[in-house]
Amino acid sequence: ATGTEPHLNSGGVRSASRAAITAPHLRTDRWWLAPAATAAGLLAFVVYSTWRAFADTNYYAAPYVSPFYSPCLAERCETMHAGPNADVFGSWWAISPAIIILIFPLGFRLTCYYYRKAYYRGFWASPPACAVPEPHKKYTGETRFPLILQNIHRYFFYAAIIVAGILTYDTVLAFRDEHYNWGHMGLGTVVFLVNIVLIWSYTISCHSCRHIVGGKLKHFSKHPVRYRMWQWVGKLNARHMLLAWTSLVSVALADFYVYLVASGAFADPRFF
Ligand code: FES
Repeated sequence: ATGTEPHLNSGGVRSASRAAITAPHLRTDRWWLAPAATAAGLLAFVVYSTWRAFADTNYYAAPYVSPFYSPCLAERCETMHAGPNADVFGSWWAISPAIIILIFPLGFRLTCYYYRKAYYRGFWASPPACAVPEPHKKYTGETRFPLILQNIHRYFFYAAIIVAGILTYDTVLAFRDEHYNWGHMGLGTVVFLVNIVLIWSYTISCHSCRHIVGGKLKHFSKHPVRYRMWQWVGKLNARHMLLAWTSLVSVALADFYVYLVASGAFADPRFF
């Protein structure tokens, strides 16, 4: 969109060029339910993740490292000898090390095409639902600052690939016991496995990923491998919303599991 299209500057559905319908909208179903549930779900995650990100404690219970705190990049990390860590920020970093790393998955989800739809509807009512007019007079889409910054989503995708790789490594390390001996498995290992499958599925189902894999090709027949990969990504992409929510819940659950074990509220059951 360039911002010059008639519908962008028309003053919304009340403009003279639109049908003169006095009712605010003609929907008779409970259209507000989806945006309200979306807003409640996102708000719950924001509250939970803010608490955990700033808590700066109970994020490591050998051999599990909370996904909110990995990789850990400050000297204060509890996990300095346990998972992917690098003392990049040193001892001067005085607050929770989760803040350093969470910016990447947060940026990835904040600029995600699905989440954009979700929070534009849930929080901004822009528009609140299909065929329900938005309360705002003007619609400029994502053509101006700050929403034009949503275009950096592709770069957050690259960062998300690296973060998913690191969380995969953490999941491999979860096959150790508390003394770092290999070949063990606990309930936490299962929690981490489910989480990493959902994290990868969500990441790979990204619209940017689909374009990187199969976009800008004139002839699929000349690129059979990319065509095949594009078909796989497309199948996941069709479930992007579902994967966005399930991976959001699973990453919070993985963190909460580590919190419960680390705080002593719960002992990790070991299968072998
Ligand atoms: Fe949702 Fe890229 S579009 S993660």
